[in-house]
Amino acid sequence: MSTTISSATASEKKASTQRLVGWEEDCGAAAVGHDLTGADLDAAVIEADHSRVFHSWSAQNHLPSFSVASGFGARLWDYAGNSWIDFSSQLINVNIGYQHPRVIEAIHKQLEAITMVAPSTSNKQRAEAAGMILEHAPAGFEKVFFTNAGADANENAMRLARLVTGRDKIISRYRSYHGNTGAAIVATGDWRRIPNEYARGHVHVFGPYLYRSEFWATTPEEECARALQHLEHTIIAEGPETIAGILLESVPGTAGIMVPPPGYLAGVRKIADKYGIVMIADEVMAGFGRTGSWFAFQKQDVVPDLITFAKGVNSGYVPAGGVIISSRIAHFFDETVFPGGLTYSGHPLAMAAIVATITAMEDEGIVENADQIGEKVLGPALGALSDNPLVGEVRGTGVFWAVELVADKETREPLAASRLASISKRCEERGLILPVHDNRIHVVPPCVITAEEASQGIEILAGALSEEAER
Ligand SMILES: Cc1ncc(COP(=O)(O)O)c(C=O)c1O
Repeated sequence: MSTTISSATASEKKASTQRLVGWEEDCGAAAVGHDLTGADLDAAVIEADHSRVFHSWSAQNHLPSFSVASGFGARLWDYAGNSWIDFSSQLINVNIGYQHPRVIEAIHKQLEAITMVAPSTSNKQRAEAAGMILEHAPAGFEKVFFTNAGADANENAMRLARLVTGRDKIISRYRSYHGNTGAAIVATGDWRRIPNEYARGHVHVFGPYLYRSEFWATTPEEECARALQHLEHTIIAEGPETIAGILLESVPGTAGIMVPPPGYLAGVRKIADKYGIVMIADEVMAGFGRTGSWFAFQKQDVVPDLITFAKGVNSGYVPAGGVIISSRIAHFFDETVFPGGLTYSGHPLAMAAIVATITAMEDEGIVENADQIGEKVLGPALGALSDNPLVGEVRGTGVFWAVELVADKETREPLAASRLASISKRCEERGLILPVHDNRIHVVPPCVITAEEASQGIEILAGALSEEAER
């Protein structure tokens, strides 16, 4: 973690450093590294973080040593002034890139106006944010329920499906991620628990994944047809009258960026209609530009009943998520109370950030940029890596790609974690940050990445992969 890459311009570096000035002075007794600079400050920050912060999904004695002090566009800096091209977008959410001036300005303006408005009260920013989100949703969507993030968006979508169908089971897929919330409402001790207590059943099915087919398929067509048959047979075996919703990521993200074969989502739509099941598209990761379209299902010409979103809607500048609700489901609650809510539903700072983010994405062609970068740069350059003996499969779209690494191309045995760690370390030392999941490297930069930055990053990755293959 010590290499400073040279391509960051002097003014970018200066701006990055200026953003840090004053930070230490404002801190109280727990301030970190007041009188330190450069690498010493960086080390002090990491040490203080590791000793005080309890980290997600981690054994606390085995945390990565990496700090972020500032960023701009698709580039990050640490406290020592080192800089990286970012192929991670943090948790695949900073679609608009770091420190977009229009979003920062909108948050500043909202800070001056009012910083908290209860969800039951009308507020201009909230109404505008809902309107802008609905403008990008397919026809027939009418309302937006705002949440704090993606997990509670999915919680509320499942709740909506259960309430409108009067059924309780949700079908979702193995190899998916839908969030990290549990049983808070069922632990609740007032009336709000009661309409939610029947939320019991979860059933899983395998989705299409031709490279490691569960269905002995050899073509995308076979994989698609058999995955759909498996879904329908599971529904019949469980009892269609018990199934409220089918919840699926339009493109499974964390599980491996598996773009579904043509016809799969349309087939799910057909099955959902046949059995009166609500189709919920989880667009938390795939939505708002990641796949090179506003929503990933739009590339598959399918319309779900509920759409969940978070991450890219305002690139996480202020936490936000939500459910976009189709008219039929929205009107079910015209006279019936919806038993769900959150203190920060439609928080004004998050709403201001949504309005500014979507406006900037529209004005600056950011979704189109993601599409073009995928088609013209990432797709061809990553495809060329297939000659490397460690590369089993490259797949993706837009700025949403996975490189699946194998020890043996014939058997497709996943490459050992230690070897992925060494590839990732080499990239980091040469100025590129990218996420590793199981035996895959994910290439998921901000949608604003330039062709030059994308090519530079792939060159670093290609070099690291070649060296690992030669070891
Ligand atoms: C597809 C998908 N759904 C839901 C979530 C949960 O979102 P959050 O972490 O904002 O609660 C994630 C997070 O990565 C996700 O990728």
